Amino acid sequence: MIRLENIHLAYTAGDRTIPVLEDASLEIGSGESLAIMGPSGSGKTSLLLVMTGLESPDSGSIVFDDTPLDTLSSDARADLRRDRIGIVFQNFHLIPSLSACENVALPMDIAGERGARDHAASLLDRVGLGHRKDHYPNAMSGGERQRVAIARALIQRPSLVVADEPTGNLDNQTGDTIADLLFELNQENDATLVLVTHDPSLAGRCQRRVRLHEGQLHPAEQYDV
Ligand SMILES: Nc1ncnc2c1ncn2[C@@H]1O[C@H](COP(=O)(O)OP(=O)(O)OP(=O)(O)O)[C@@H](O)[C@H]1O
Ligand SMILES: [Mg+2]
Repeated sequence: MIRLENIHLAYTAGDRTIPVLEDASLEIGSGESLAIMGPSGSGKTSLLLVMTGLESPDSGSIVFDDTPLDTLSSDARADLRRDRIGIVFQNFHLIPSLSACENVALPMDIAGERGARDHAASLLDRVGLGHRKDHYPNAMSGGERQRVAIARALIQRPSLVVADEPTGNLDNQTGDTIADLLFELNQENDATLVLVTHDPSLAGRCQRRVRLHEGQLHPAEQYDV
């Protein structure tokens, strides 16, 4: 489904260079579920941005279903993301001027597909937010916003779901419900699931775990978080 080969990524801050990914390689099979672990600042979010084409690496290649991302224009990469990839950002990236339902419906609206509102409403029901459809993000709790972001990521039935600490703001029970939903979709749609998580029980539900250490990915045990 997706292959990262020899990825190098460094950020510059003032006159300093901060190496983040240093020869990171990873192959994820179609329908697989994978947990990415590693301490704060180790580069997990950066890795997800590279994987989804939102950040270009300094070197290395990303191949999505046989298509090298660097052969696509930025518009083509945006289309690929909209149609095939659901992303749950660590800080949600909801649009403040849209209601929960409008935020969730947005990817379908942009794609010009019909039935977006109904589908958005049913997904909000599934994440337990049926009673908050018309709320705006600023009037929602962190965990509610997180669930809106998850519903939005799922609306196009993506073949790849990438989620950055999707249960980070949720209590155990709500977190379990959200995890159930992600794994259900993983199975129903044969969607590939890539989760960044510090939660050993969520990592343990994935088929495979890797850990970022010094810019590289290594196989990991469940309790290595
Ligand atoms: N735009 C940027 N400019 C400069 N440095 C950055 C930028 N984005 C991230 N970094 C640095 O790169 C490193 C990796 O950041 P990243 O956000 O990928 O870590 P992370 O593993 O997701 O951490 P966390 O668990 O806290 O979310 C950090 O040291 C961070 O300070
Ligand atoms: Mg992060």
